Amino acid sequence: MQFDSLLAKDYAQDTKTIKTHLLPLYAGSAFEFESLEQSIDIFTGKELGHVYSRYGNPTVDAVAAKLAQMETFDTELQAEAIMTSSGMSAISTVMSGLLQTGDKVITQGDLYGGTTELFIKMLGRMGIETVIVPLHDLEATETALQTDPSIKMMYIETPANPTMRILDIQALADLAKQHDVITTADNTFCTPYIQQPLKYGIDIVIHSTTKYLNGHSSGIGGVIISCDPDLMQSINTAMKLMGTNASPFEAWLLNLGLKTLALRMDRHCDNAELVAAFLSGHRSVSRVNYPGLESFEYRDLAQTYMHRNGGMLSFEVTGGLQGAINTIEALEMIPCVATLGDTDTIVLHPATSSHLRVDPEQRRAAGITDGLIRLSVGIESAQDIIADLERGLNRM
Ligand SMILES: Cc1ncc(COP(=O)(O)O)c(C=O)c1O
Repeated sequence: MQFDSLLAKDYAQDTKTIKTHLLPLYAGSAFEFESLEQSIDIFTGKELGHVYSRYGNPTVDAVAAKLAQMETFDTELQAEAIMTSSGMSAISTVMSGLLQTGDKVITQGDLYGGTTELFIKMLGRMGIETVIVPLHDLEATETALQTDPSIKMMYIETPANPTMRILDIQALADLAKQHDVITTADNTFCTPYIQQPLKYGIDIVIHSTTKYLNGHSSGIGGVIISCDPDLMQSINTAMKLMGTNASPFEAWLLNLGLKTLALRMDRHCDNAELVAAFLSGHRSVSRVNYPGLESFEYRDLAQTYMHRNGGMLSFEVTGGLQGAINTIEALEMIPCVATLGDTDTIVLHPATSSHLRVDPEQRRAAGITDGLIRLSVGIESAQDIIADLERGLNRM
């Protein structure tokens, strides 16, 4: 072998003796076949094996399998999962895989702003229209489904970002089934530790794994999970052909985060309960949206579907936009960051960030007012979180 050939080739791997305790990171883009015969068998599906990392990668597949098990844990359900490059790519892959021009999506007005934009701007350009209905109003939802047979997909986010409004998952899944409509639920805020929508008849669950599932702000990712192999086959084709696959490194980082998910979620919930109680008693706060509060409008639904109250909340300060600015700017420990679900507490002003590009009228109708602040309660000491919020609110 010549020197330049030596450089171009990889070292032979001894896969029999190397057994890492941690899931290995298979960063490679492609996999070798032992023979042409094996290549044909793998390409034609006769034999299982890896071909090319956009189609499937051992690190990504191992993490996807774990996520599928988490979303169906303690149930009789059997799910598969496809990991994607972000939460947005999980949503767009589902829509591209299952919908076509002329189809419509029915959804709520208070989705994560990026999802609303994707539906209106991108799907709209492809001739897939979005019908916005208050999905907590089951009668209005049923009327919309009855009157418009072009509706092929129901997309729900519960609790909604950032209003925390909670939907009746089972009732919506039943209604959708009666009208042959596929259901997709964004379970990012809860994670499967707190809520499992597939259990109530939802067809597809998506997550932005960037948030609680990763938990450490170390990567962007998404996942699509379903128990329906036909739906998953169409979605898998869309993932492969549009190249929305997850990178092995992102999957590997996510795997590290998953190990402590239950511990982190319990602490997020404990802290959020204390913070919500503090905020509801503060004179500069006119409303707190948190599933654990007796005063919360959707508390009964939260108790039906959520195993705990979660780490996310939003609250409205008196003084509108200026009140929100004064509060956020006076915080010393809590940073203003456009993400959620990390170990540290994070604040965000939805009207000027995540929901900035949502039509202002639709934004206000959904309860996303100028004085609304979203808080992702972290796992620090609750005492420190509350002291910082008190400092912020007292500045008003
Ligand atoms: C509820 C929810 N769903 C989906 C997304 C999109 O996820 P990603 O940023 O990973 O694309 C976000 C992002 O903030 C979100 O909050």
